Amino acid sequence: MSVITTGGNPQLNRHGELNHLLTIEGLPRDVLTRILDTAAPFTEVAEREVKKLPLLRGKSVFNLFFENSTRTRTTFEIAAKRLSADVINLNISTSSANKGETLLDTVDNLAAMQADMFVVRHASSGAPYLIAQHLAATGRDHIHVVNAGDGRHAHPTQGLLDMYTIRHYKKDFTQLTVAIVGDVLHSRVARSQIHALNTLGVPEVRVIAPKTLLPTAVERLGVRVFNDMREGLRGVDVVMMLRLQNERMQGALLPSTQEFFKSWGLTPDKLALAKPDAIVMHPGPMNRGVEIDSAVADGNQAVILPQVTFGIAVRMAVMAMLGGN
Ligand code: CP
Repeated sequence: MSVITTGGNPQLNRHGELNHLLTIEGLPRDVLTRILDTAAPFTEVAEREVKKLPLLRGKSVFNLFFENSTRTRTTFEIAAKRLSADVINLNISTSSANKGETLLDTVDNLAAMQADMFVVRHASSGAPYLIAQHLAATGRDHIHVVNAGDGRHAHPTQGLLDMYTIRHYKKDFTQLTVAIVGDVLHSRVARSQIHALNTLGVPEVRVIAPKTLLPTAVERLGVRVFNDMREGLRGVDVVMMLRLQNERMQGALLPSTQEFFKSWGLTPDKLALAKPDAIVMHPGPMNRGVEIDSAVADGNQAVILPQVTFGIAVRMAVMAMLGGN
């Protein structure tokens, strides 16, 4: 079946079902909700109360991580195995990508090994799109592509597991004020979070950052901008911290990490401005003493490790919906 765009969305087939997961932007609310609802019973498998499900039995999932990862790569592998898939982790550092093989040649060769799904992380924004387009153009769009983070563009499964976490603790998206704090400019996670929060009906999404770490015209994404952290945190239900993405920064955007922490680091006194039952989230990896104080990261409002566990169930849901028997 060829990929037909629904409302310009290349990841949906003609029935409005997911064929690839490339970005949250443009996905309808019912698709997001269906993913979260599908993930709910999988938490039992993620937490090992039920051992395995046969939904991807006989299917091959290839993890292609061209960029470093701890959480995403490992939880995709766990999720695929809990769905009974065969999982192949391509070791990029010892692969023929280092001998000059192009991304699409690598994809063609793995497709020839009867791949059913590619989970792709790449430093270049758009790499998973390129692969999905190539598969469609060569009549192989029965192979599903999942974006596991591309450049600054998108990290859809992180956005989804964050939504799952918020729904778990706060129940109703339509009553919330959510703050996203830190390096929004370089963050694919922030973009996915903003699209998901808006689609799911969160009435106020705030971004809190210095002007140098905000994209141009960020308000157009549907957020309220604060350049003062204390003001921005007042009365929020959810605080989503972001990592300073030094690997993507060009030039001096900040005086120093110590200065950054002073103004933009989440400390107990700043967190006290949020609602008393506010939850603190972070996609990881965390830089303690840069964007978050250890007293907060390890405190009783932090849900950072539950986010990781929910990530298994959410990734199971995505893979089952894309390629499940
Ligand atoms: N949140 C996240 O993407 O973490 P990793 O880089 O460890 O996968």
